[in-house]
Amino acid sequence: MNSSSWYDEAHTYDLAFAFDPDREITMLTVALAAADVRPPARLLEAMVGGARLVPRLTSAGFDVFGFDMSQAMLGYAKQRAPGRVFRADAARFATARAFDGAYCLIDSFRYLLTESAASACLTSIAAGLHPGAPLVLELELFSPGPPVPDTWTTQRGDARASVSVSSRADPDDDLQWIDVVVNINAPDGDRELRSSQKQRIWRPDRLAAFLDASPFTLETTWRRTQEQGAPLDGLPRNGGPVTLLLRNGGDG
Ligand SMILES: C[S@@+](CC[C@H](N)C(=O)[O-])C[C@H]1O[C@@H](n2cnc3c(N)ncnc32)[C@H](O)[C@@H]1O
Repeated sequence: MNSSSWYDEAHTYDLAFAFDPDREITMLTVALAAADVRPPARLLEAMVGGARLVPRLTSAGFDVFGFDMSQAMLGYAKQRAPGRVFRADAARFATARAFDGAYCLIDSFRYLLTESAASACLTSIAAGLHPGAPLVLELELFSPGPPVPDTWTTQRGDARASVSVSSRADPDDDLQWIDVVVNINAPDGDRELRSSQKQRIWRPDRLAAFLDASPFTLETTWRRTQEQGAPLDGLPRNGGPVTLLLRNGGDG
């Protein structure tokens, strides 16, 4: 199986994620407020992609910057958030200690395929954050049992995207393949994009040990989409999608 990235097809990704970002904006606002971070706080989005959320957050008064490795995705990001995005690999980047908070959305963190890459990413984010500042991390923890495909549709103008995301095992027990199929119906013709990329599997106990050894402390765990409700009592043993509020323990 060859690996192809839908991030090289940024226009397809952008249409596939053309849904209203209200839920994510609310999630971030609630999670950051739980750490006393509010506008005009300065935020860093790790793996910012096309900067979908940045205009909404800057309109709300946050001072947001972001980075990504994909030139194609940054092409969109630079249009949406001029002067606020830069190219960097999450496994090796550095910023000044200038941020009041950071966030990383939609399982992007799992593109760091080794623990050392993931650890380097957290160390770099921590170095850019003030002591005690939060990192909000969305992550799908590994769940035993058959994978359930995620499907949705989006529409922008006359163009419509039907998206299917499913996972399958890799011979390496710590990795899995994420297969994406996007069917686009548009006035200029129909097309299909297929992409397969590896992501790291995080089992709850392994993630807990990893975070214990990181510069961050896990403060709050929510079931993803339920950030306005009661938090969970730690990482759920049966896995699934979570939103984590981590605090930088760095001493500055
Ligand atoms: C699921 S997208 C999320 C994009 C954006 N945060 C959003 O919410 O739409 C994952 C992003 O991670 C980026 N990415 C993957 N590996 C990376 C790495 N090692 N360093 C920086 N960016 C990376 C991809 O280019 C892609 O834009």
